[in-house]
Amino acid sequence: MMATATQPRPEAQPALLAASQLHTYYGDSHILQGVSLEVGRGETVSLMGRNGMGKTTTLRSILGLTPPRSGRTWVAGVETTGWRPYRVVQKGIAYVPEDRGIFPNLSVRENLVMAARPGVDGRNAWPLERTLEHFPRLAERIGHMGNQLSGGEQQMLTIARALMTNPELLILDEATEGLAPLFRREIWRVIGEIRDTGIASIIVDKDVGALLGLCDRHYILNKGRVVWEGESEALRRDPDLYRQHLGV
Ligand SMILES: Nc1ncnc2c1ncn2[C@@H]1O[C@H](COP(=O)(O)OP(=O)(O)O)[C@@H](O)[C@H]1O
Ligand SMILES: [Mg+2]
Repeated sequence: MMATATQPRPEAQPALLAASQLHTYYGDSHILQGVSLEVGRGETVSLMGRNGMGKTTTLRSILGLTPPRSGRTWVAGVETTGWRPYRVVQKGIAYVPEDRGIFPNLSVRENLVMAARPGVDGRNAWPLERTLEHFPRLAERIGHMGNQLSGGEQQMLTIARALMTNPELLILDEATEGLAPLFRREIWRVIGEIRDTGIASIIVDKDVGALLGLCDRHYILNKGRVVWEGESEALRRDPDLYRQHLGV
């Protein structure tokens, strides 16, 4: 069969993001063993699984940061297989990696303003003022340097910065990892607000309860394979899945 530039899909509207049969290696280690997933426009999806199961590698493969050895990816129906990361994210993706990477010697305002760019449709739906409405703590600390922020504030800054890129899809790896409970709640609140604005998300986190409440659908990874996918209701009804794959 000839490879085509358009994602094969029966519906008229292609998925916002699709990955098919990703196989990714670190050296000789075959990490992703045929991962496929899809995210619709405005959909909130989780990627679950114990440590080391391939969640981060899946995200990095989709973004081209760790290019898969085989498999294909699409953003909004356009094939992005083999694209460099900067081109993939220009299709409207904002990525918040596990290590947050804010600029320590720039102020909160500078960190935010530096990130600003119009969305793929040319619109600027997230000017500074609107972004700050969702992050009252950052608004209070607008003149503080990045390195004066707590871990929770830094994570808020990375999410706020991601919004300033006017994304169609926000990817959050370990959204609340290492944060105090108060900040965790803040982050979940903000993620809910972002979802309600219609931005799609892929969220990785250990807090299965929060993910169940927040996400439309879930993928569970085990040793580089998707072993389950489905909606929150179905996952709630299946405690064996928890025990087997999530260890909670
Ligand atoms: N840079 C790397 N080099 C070699 N192996 C890696 C590297 N990054 C991750 N791995 C391995 O790949 C597997 C999947 O890791 P990762 O995708 O980070 O899992 P998760 O995000 O689910 O915790 C693990 O076995 C991990 O040890
Ligand atoms: Mg990870």
